Amino acid sequence: MEKDTKKLLFQQLEVQAKELIATEDDMEKVYKGIVEMLDNNIPYYDWTGFYMVEKGELVLGHYVGAATDHTKIQIGQGICGQAAERKETFIVDDVTKESNYLACSFETASEIVVPIMKGSEVLGEIDIDSHTPAAFDELDQQLLETIASKLAEKL
Ligand code: SME
Repeated sequence: MEKDTKKLLFQQLEVQAKELIATEDDMEKVYKGIVEMLDNNIPYYDWTGFYMVEKGELVLGHYVGAATDHTKIQIGQGICGQAAERKETFIVDDVTKESNYLACSFETASEIVVPIMKGSEVLGEIDIDSHTPAAFDELDQQLLETIASKLAEKL
């Protein structure tokens, strides 16, 4: 996607996401609305979902994309578990080069995981897989981190 087009689209999506988070009190509708909004509007988002921390592990929440076997992930395990452990965004340009990786689909080439942080506590994550190698850059990171921090304010 051309950079200026992407910037403009991402600005619009940020506004829409903030509005949804500010106006909808049913968090299930918020999670569902966000994954649908991202997946519908960003062509290289091929699996878009939430994992939320429950009793010390990551539990699959709302998602758009192929069904996954990884409905529960331990902290430290896979890209999701590593992002939760490090408490920071983890971008993997080529998942075949990552040894600590849990494959959801053979088509996945790259992945971004953004923790939802309340202070120093990880409450959950936004996880996106793409069939395109090295699909994610600082604009994806920025948008998803903004959404994560707005969500954390409501949790
Ligand atoms: N690939 C992730 C597992 C979740 S699926 O992408 C939906 C990982 O390595 O943690």
